[in-house]
Amino acid sequence: MSPHQLPASRRRAPGTLNAKFACGDFGNAYRTAYFVDSSKTRNIFRRALLLTFLLLPAARSHAQTAAELPGNSAHSAKHPSTSDTWPPQAVRGSHAMVATDEALGSQAGVTILKQGGNAVDAAVAVAFALAVVEPAAGNIGGGGFMLVRLADGKTNFFDYREVAPAQATRDMYIQNGKLIPDASTLGYRSVAVPGTVAGLELALKTHGTMKLSQVMAPAIHFAKDGFPVTEKLVREFDEEKSGLEQFSVSKRIFLSNSRNKNHPYKVGDIFRQPELAATLERIVKNGAADFYRGKTARMIVADMQSNGGIITADDLANYQPKVREVLRAHYQIEGHRWDVLTSPPPSSGGIAIIEALNILRQTQLKGWNDLQSVRMVLEAMRRVFADRAAYLADPDYSDIPVAGLISDCYARELFATIDPQHASSSKEIKAGTPHACGISAGQSVPPNTVVSLGEGPHTTHFSVVDAAGNAVASTYTLNDSYGSHATSSAGFLLNDEMDDFTTQPGVPNALFGLIQSDANAIAPNHRPLSSMTPTMLLRDGKLSFVTGSPGGPTIISATLLSVINWMCLGMDAQAAINAPRFHHQWLPDQVVLEKEFSPAFEQALNANGYATKRKGHLGLVNAIGIDPQTSDRLGAADPRDHGSAVGY
Ligand code: DON
Repeated sequence: MSPHQLPASRRRAPGTLNAKFACGDFGNAYRTAYFVDSSKTRNIFRRALLLTFLLLPAARSHAQTAAELPGNSAHSAKHPSTSDTWPPQAVRGSHAMVATDEALGSQAGVTILKQGGNAVDAAVAVAFALAVVEPAAGNIGGGGFMLVRLADGKTNFFDYREVAPAQATRDMYIQNGKLIPDASTLGYRSVAVPGTVAGLELALKTHGTMKLSQVMAPAIHFAKDGFPVTEKLVREFDEEKSGLEQFSVSKRIFLSNSRNKNHPYKVGDIFRQPELAATLERIVKNGAADFYRGKTARMIVADMQSNGGIITADDLANYQPKVREVLRAHYQIEGHRWDVLTSPPPSSGGIAIIEALNILRQTQLKGWNDLQSVRMVLEAMRRVFADRAAYLADPDYSDIPVAGLISDCYARELFATIDPQHASSSKEIKAGTPHACGISAGQSVPPNTVVSLGEGPHTTHFSVVDAAGNAVASTYTLNDSYGSHATSSAGFLLNDEMDDFTTQPGVPNALFGLIQSDANAIAPNHRPLSSMTPTMLLRDGKLSFVTGSPGGPTIISATLLSVINWMCLGMDAQAAINAPRFHHQWLPDQVVLEKEFSPAFEQALNANGYATKRKGHLGLVNAIGIDPQTSDRLGAADPRDHGSAVGY
């Protein structure tokens, strides 16, 4: 029996200790080279059709879910407030699995898989569907990353991160030496050139088997025929009202139900987005070219011109998604070879995760009720975030010491700086001098850094594994929840990704309080540094775990913890997601703890020198594990907010 399929008597509650699977000294860790860029009557009928389309697959998968999880469903109907109601086990499927933030998104993916599409076809379908049903983060007006691993072992990383427009300048958000409030987070000037449509088209052309018309059909149905408004959407529209009501198109689309005297939407109302449906139909007809050079491009440019934005027709026409080499590390743990496949720059997350794992392999991790294990991870996070702040930026414009940052020798030096008895101080821990093994650290002075950390509103991660074993991990975002809160006349929200640049050297960025380097300063065509970290694990060469998270900087912590939980601590798939999370990002020098940690545990951390802060939840990890014995797909969606795993 595999470590991931323990008999019930041996299954551990999330975060508890099982010494057999304690992780420490991961064995002979080594890495491969890192490479950058080689590049209603009628309506009732229509609704019935739509419901058939949507719910048939769902009904089947939920029946299966019920078998797997007696008395439970694959996703929670209400905003779950306590972990007591969380599903203890993953959704099991013997063929394929889709795990996303939204049941409709997961069902869209499963529909495509059942029609014969592969994981990439399904992932593109999910991404377009979430752009309609999850406006907070699903998008076509933003950007993201997609990590693909095919069943034959080939991997690709699609980078469709937004870029700064040509007219963007280093100080564009500064006036009289100060950051103009909201300038980099609200409205048309905070928008970077979107990459999602180009990236999805490229991924589909490269690895998909279906046409845009097939994979976009679910999204177009949701936009045109509408879908029932959930409690989550009502809550979000209310929470985001002050931003959305500043922009006429946003106000009209999200804040007023034209079929009900323009009252706000209520749970169960049907939410239709006709302008978005028309845009999606043009993309089906003309491809991404419509978005970047066609009618949609012209609409975006007109929006910019009338609202003070700076994105031009040339900016859109010049946008290029990139295919990058996947960042890798290998570990030997208890007789098994584990491969970590993760995100290269302009994501900071892959480097951070490998660097942290390299530090942590020097110690013994036991579980999250073990103070020392939590402390070790916190100290690794502290050091990794200090390096992130100094070294990471757009790899096309800066020389990132990737090999050094992920070197085992460097990690050993960092580990040696950890006091086993007491918290380090972030005042004393600065970025290190990364170097590859056999090459001395040199005297290089870390680049200038700017400081900060806050908490991230939204972004979304989904995972897909098909029947053949092809897998996709994808995280994409508008940055803030509802992005810039400005909606294009073409019916989709526009990102505020410009805030991921170093908007004011020496000052934390507006949304996440992250300190960032000068190398991440605003410059035309540069990609802002990201924390999004779609990641996969292979066990003895076979796909084992597909993961990733939203959460700004907490993406890195949530993803890292899911990896440790599965790979090192041998947790079941759902336990690996339910386990309590914690975060440290170097500055501010404080630990962020989910509410599941006991007061006594928090006090023990305080007694050890750690300042602590509570947060309800960190990250939303929608993961899929593979049962190494049966190859069943184990869909582990995050119960923290409506995660949904659907499989068959
Ligand atoms: O790319 C990034 O790192 C950020 N724009 C992600 C923002 C995010 O995750 C917001 N929150 N949940």
